[in-house]
This record gives sequence, C-alpha cells and structure tokens, in this order.
Amino acid sequence: MSHAIEKNKTSLAKKVLKFSAILIVSLLLLLILIALYGYRLGDVYSDLSKDTPSHSKVGEQVASRHASNAILERGAYLSKIADCMACHTTRGGAAFAGGRVMESEFGQFITPNITPDKQTGIGNWTAEDFWNALHNGRGKQGQLLYPAFPFVNYTHISRADADAIFAYLQSQPAVVQQNLEHRLAFPYNQRVGLALWRALYFKPGELAYQPAQSQEWNRGAYLVRGLAHCSACHSSRNQFGANKGSDDFSGGEMAGIRWYAPSLVAKHELNLSTWSATDLSQLLQHGVNRQSIVNGPMAEVVKASLQYLTDQDAAAMANYLRSLPTQEKTEPDFLDRAIARPSVSKEQMLQMMEAGEAIYRAQCIDCHGKNGEGQAGIYPALKGNPSLQMESLSNPIRIILAGGFSPVTKGNPRPYSMPPFAPFLTDTEVALVLTYIRNAWGNQASAVGAAEVNPYRTASLD
Ligand code: HEC
Ligand code: HEC
Ligand code: HEC
Repeated sequence: MSHAIEKNKTSLAKKVLKFSAILIVSLLLLLILIALYGYRLGDVYSDLSKDTPSHSKVGEQVASRHASNAILERGAYLSKIADCMACHTTRGGAAFAGGRVMESEFGQFITPNITPDKQTGIGNWTAEDFWNALHNGRGKQGQLLYPAFPFVNYTHISRADADAIFAYLQSQPAVVQQNLEHRLAFPYNQRVGLALWRALYFKPGELAYQPAQSQEWNRGAYLVRGLAHCSACHSSRNQFGANKGSDDFSGGEMAGIRWYAPSLVAKHELNLSTWSATDLSQLLQHGVNRQSIVNGPMAEVVKASLQYLTDQDAAAMANYLRSLPTQEKTEPDFLDRAIARPSVSKEQMLQMMEAGEAIYRAQCIDCHGKNGEGQAGIYPALKGNPSLQMESLSNPIRIILAGGFSPVTKGNPRPYSMPPFAPFLTDTEVALVLTYIRNAWGNQASAVGAAEVNPYRTASLD
C-alpha cells in the first residue's frame, strides 16, 4: 500500500518536474522572442525617406556639409530646442565633443563626441545613421543605445528636422576627443538587455497629427514631447528607468542629483492647465514670470535651450501644456514617507513654527516679505507657492542650502539670486525655517526633520 503511494508520489514529482521544465523553457523562449522583437523594433528609413532623398547616400554627405544657410540656421535652432549641446559638452569643454558625466541609479553615463571628427566623432555618419539614432535609438553599427539619450522623445522628430540638425552638427568644428566607456553596474553594462527594455517601453514613430486640435496645439505637442523632451525629467520612472512615454508628466526625482522635477499636471504641483498662456511662455523664454523663477536643472534648460524659442513656438508649447488634463497625484511612496516622517504633535508643531518664524525674520524677511508675498518678478512669493508644499523636499532644501540662481536670459538679463545658507544655518535650523514657510500664511505641508536636510549638504551641484 505505502509502496504504491511512494510510486504515485515519484511519478507525480516527475510530472511536476517535466511540467516546470516545459514552463521554464517556454518562458525563456518567450523572453527571447520579446527581446528579438525589441531588438528589431524600429522604422526602416528607406521607407520613410522616399520624399527626402537628398542626403541618402554616403557620397552625398558633402551636400549636408555645404547645406544652405537657411537649413543650417534651422538646424542650429532645432538643436538648441533639443538641447543637444547641454548633454554632449563638459563644463569648460569643446562644444558637442561629449565627455559629460550623467549620474543615474544605474551608474554613470558619459556622453559621446558628436562633432564631425571622423575618428572620434560622427564625421563618418550619414544622414540615415543620424536619423536612425534619433528615431530608433541605434548607433552607427546598429547597436542599441541607452535611453539616457532621450530617443524615446526624439523618435517624434521629423526626418526633415533631423536632417537639418545633422547638417548643422556637421558644419561645426571637428574636435578630436575619444569617447569614454560608461561606468555602469552589471547587468546594466550589457547592451543586449536593452532589447527587452525596448520591447516593453519604446514606441518608435512620429506623433500622429490630431485633426481635432488646432495646428498650434499640434506644433506644441511636437515640441514638448519630441524636441524639448520635457518628460525626460518631469516623469516618474520605474526600477528600469522607464516612464510611461513622451507624454508622462507625472513628476520625478532626478536620480543622482537630488532635484525634483515637479509634475506638470498634478493638482498639488505645477498643474499647468491653471497657468495663463503668458505666464507659461514667459517662464519658458525668460526663466521668470510674475510668480515663479526657475532653478537648478530647469535654469540650465532655460539658459541653454528654451530662451531661444521663437514667440510662436513658445505660444504653441503653452497651448499644448495648458490643455493637459489635471491629475490627482497619488504619490507611489507616500506611505514610506509618512512612516519615515511621523506627524508631530500640535504642541511640537507650535514650537517648531515659533522657532522657524524667528529664523525667517532674521534671515529671509528682507527679500521674501513679512507675509511671504515676495516681490513680483524679483523675489518669489513663498505664500501659496506649490514648490514649497510638495511631497518632495529636494528643491526647497537645495535652494536654502546652496542658494538660488536663475538663468541670465534676454528677457531677464540681470536676475536676482538667493545667497546660500549652508554656512550659516544648521540642519535643524534649515528644517525649522522650512517647516515654517511650508505652513505659514495658509500654506500646508508636513513638518521637516533635520535628518532630511543633511544628505543635501553633500549633493553634487550639477
Ligand atoms: C539628456 C542627455 C542627452 C541629450 C539631451 C542628448 N543626448 Fe545624445 N546621447 C546621450 C547619451 C548618454 C548617449 C550615449 C548612449 C549610449 O551609449 O547608448 C548619447 C548618444 C548620442 C549619439 C550616438 C553617438 C555614438 O557615437 O553612438 C548621437 C548621434 C547623439 N547622442 C546625438 C544627439 C543629438 C543630435 C541630440 C540633440 C537632438 C542629443 N544627442 C541630445 C545623451 C544625450
Ligand atoms: C533636465 C531636466 C528638465 C527638463 C528637460 C525640463 N525640466 Fe522643467 N524643471 C526641472 C526641475 C528640476 C524643476 C524644478 C526646479 C524649479 O522649480 O525651477 C523644473 C521646473 C519646471 C517648472 C516650474 C518652475 C517654477 O519654479 O515654478 C516648469 C513650468 C517646468 N519645469 C516646465 C518644463 C517644460 C515645459 C519642459 C520642456 C520644455 C521642461 N520643464 C523641461 C527639470 C527639467
Ligand atoms: C537676498 C535676498 C534673499 C534672501 C535673504 C532669501 N532669499 Fe530665498 N530667494 C531669493 C531669490 C532671488 C529667489 C529666486 C532664486 C532663483 O529661483 O534662482 C529665492 C528663492 C527661494 C526659494 C525657492 C522658491 C521657488 O519657487 O522655487 C525658497 C524656498 C526660498 N527662497 C527660501 C528662502 C529662505 C527660507 C530664506 C531664509 C533662510 C531665504 N529664501 C532668503 C532671494 C532671497
């Protein structure tokens, strides 16, 4: 009897084993199929380039090097709005020669040389190679590129615009500068893994024209989602560094550099649908409007890129951004934060507010005003300011510690800045004054602890 049970058991075990083996093999096959799909994913340019045959052969590359001034000017403008130079230039280094280190949770990406040098840059590239990089995220040898290069956005760039950018880059001085290897942790240093990533998160292709919307709106979508790649910073990313696409504006902590790019659509963050068209285009072009002043990485974007927007393009972007529906933001890590920062008692809060107010009166009141009202266009109002009341503390802590420097732009040639307080205030004092301005004058947000301030003392300034 027991013998029979044993026998049954072993045959059952064998069946389970066989079943698991089949399951594992089919899962592996499926994975390989998905990866294969991701690897091959992309448009074939020969289909799309039929109407733009001009620089389609290596021999015709010369044509782009001597492109008409109009095309070069257009390429210069487009490459500014796409901000190619910012990532592909190190501080003090030659323009477009690469070498800039981009911190990420996967390690450091080091941008390549995109000057027309034949050995170390992209001097040997054809217009097709170039379009293939922007549109399909592939290098000259067909290798898969990391999405740290925002091709998820650039895939929307039209062939004509890509050609103009290429012609412009090829007209720039060739710089001999060897590319450096990225410093990424295993398994992220294996490019093959990108095949899976692409299958899951990459949708190549230009944006379909939305006939129900105006031409201006469509132009705005093209600029915001494509060239200007706002979602590259203003979106939250999963553990594989992927967001929900070029129209994901859910707001995200910028890994490695500790700045928070607020949600453009969440009700309690920037919620751009409530901004006037003038306020929005002014902020993009000048870095300042009557209520806000850009800071940190956004100041860099305005300085290097957005300030050059034509009035027409700025208006188009504002039109599109203002049409985005408001979202009730649900913080993915809300619970974690609540646990990490238990709410303080009423008495404690009163004490903190009193101590914070004393610091505010001593250090901040001259510029930000008795009632946090600021001075339009000079000192931002702290009263009612959403950037103080967000879940993320990154930006206000950084600004109080390291100061606030808005960009010099045509529309704001001599910006006012805020001095750094790191040398003068302790972590506790920063926490107190921040708790105060987050809760004074009708503002409302959780109290801040000294331990939350400290890590920002050593955060890199880039
Ligand atoms: C946010 C930073 C960032 C921006 C903005 C950016 N790039 Fe890059 N780019 C990178 C990184 C990082 C890589 C390396 C990707 C890799 O190794 O897989 C790269 C790779 C490339 C490559 C492939 C070069 C090669 O040798 O394989 C080209 C071409 C390129 N970028 C052109 C551009 C152009 C043109 C623009 C503007 C339209 C631009 N990039 C904007 C970060 C950026
Ligand atoms: C390189 C990353 C990056 C890119 C690209 C970027 N932003 Fe930002 N943005 C930030 C960060 C970080 C902040 C928070 C600092 C601040 O408030 O200025 C910010 C702030 C803002 C603000 C609020 C400014 C204020 O102080 O009230 C607006 C509006 C904004 N971004 C819109 C955009 C739009 C539209 C685009 C695309 C055209 C864009 N951003 C592209 C990083 C970026
Ligand atoms: C000398 C004038 C001056 C003083 C003093 C000053 N600030 Fe500022 N503050 C500014 C300016 C100018 C800006 C805008 C700078 C920018 O965005 O680049 C600013 C920006 C800020 C911001 C960011 C607001 C936003 O919308 O992103 C915060 C928060 C802030 N200040 C808090 C403080 C606190 C707290 C103190 C006192 C400890 C203080 N400031 C003292 C001038 C000042």
